Amino acid sequence: MRRARWFSRRLAVPAAVVIAAVSLGMLVWWPASTPSLAGTVLTASVTKSTNHKPNLNLGKTLFDETCASCHGSSAEGSAVAPSLQGLGAGTIDLWLSSGWMPLAAPGAQPARKPPKYDRAQNIDIAQYVASLSNYQGFPIPKVNLKGANVANGFSVFAEICAACHTITGAGDALSGGIIAPSLHDVSKTQIVEAVRTGPGNMPRFSSGVISNAQLSDLVAYVTRNIQHPTSPGGLGLGGVGPVAEGFVGLFIGVGLCVLAAFWIGDRTPRGPLGVEQHGDGEGGSGGDGGSPGPVGDDGGSDREIQHV
Ligand code: HEC
Ligand code: HEC
Repeated sequence: MRRARWFSRRLAVPAAVVIAAVSLGMLVWWPASTPSLAGTVLTASVTKSTNHKPNLNLGKTLFDETCASCHGSSAEGSAVAPSLQGLGAGTIDLWLSSGWMPLAAPGAQPARKPPKYDRAQNIDIAQYVASLSNYQGFPIPKVNLKGANVANGFSVFAEICAACHTITGAGDALSGGIIAPSLHDVSKTQIVEAVRTGPGNMPRFSSGVISNAQLSDLVAYVTRNIQHPTSPGGLGLGGVGPVAEGFVGLFIGVGLCVLAAFWIGDRTPRGPLGVEQHGDGEGGSGGDGGSPGPVGDDGGSDREIQHV
């Protein structure tokens, strides 16, 4: 009986506060886009057949079927979609392989989803669209990681990419409703295409800013260390990033201290004089408010010391 009351009064409230704070913190700081199963499938299909010989006729057929209604019959653009002329095959390939295109309806937000077409068809469409203009933009890259330096890649990532995608690559919501997506499922080709073409709200980085050698270092770092991290030990917490993880640590740590303080405070014996002088409304460990007199287990013989 006394034990049950002791628990409900002294522990239930702080415990509820800690649980509520941790849940709230996780909700607020949990990244908007977490790695999905769809992306895993995507990575496999993307890395498979980069040596495909493009079939422009098939590319045209697919483009006319799916893209022309919005982008125009020669990709010249329309009231609802931008021109694709002058964009390199690398840009088209990124938007198709990430599932951002085709849009379901004009005005919809491009979102990552499994690609509509397979790897070979993506390349056919991309090469066909690129062939519609004399200007050749960034092509579909062949990524070679031979001799790449992962430590250099980390420096570039920490300096340039982490500001938006976070240091763990889990992604983050930026200001203005912009989301820097998770990099946990992107392919080598997609990384190079994104860095060199700057999709949507991401800046474009030319070889003057990130050299080709630095870019392959970067790709090696993202695909080896970020996508397959070796855990340093302790609880992983899903690799959500230092802010969310710090929050969990802070509140669980502080919460345990608060609980311990309540527990110690409750076990300190108090006489009725101490209770009255401190105006402790909860009535100390006795809690029955009835009989004045020493309550503590040790028999409160020395009151002067007890209410210091
Ligand atoms: C329902 C209309 C619609 C359809 C269908 C569609 N698109 Fe788009 N597309 C858009 C809109 C709108 C944008 C601009 C999106 C944005 O920037 O947020 C866009 C943007 C793009 C971009 C990026 C352009 C740039 O300047 O960065 C590419 C590449 C693209 N589309 C390719 C395609 C391809 C290839 C297809 C067919 C497989 C296709 N789209 C089908 C509406 C459409
Ligand atoms: C200023 C913020 C910003 C910086 C810096 C930045 N990115 Fe991005 N990145 C974005 C945004 C926003 C998108 C989503 C583009 C869209 O959907 O319109 C994106 C998309 C991507 C994608 C495509 C993801 C997908 O789902 O296909 C990759 C890959 C990528 N970034 C890699 C990088 C790398 C590597 C760096 C460092 C060189 C970098 N980004 C630097 C904001 C940024």
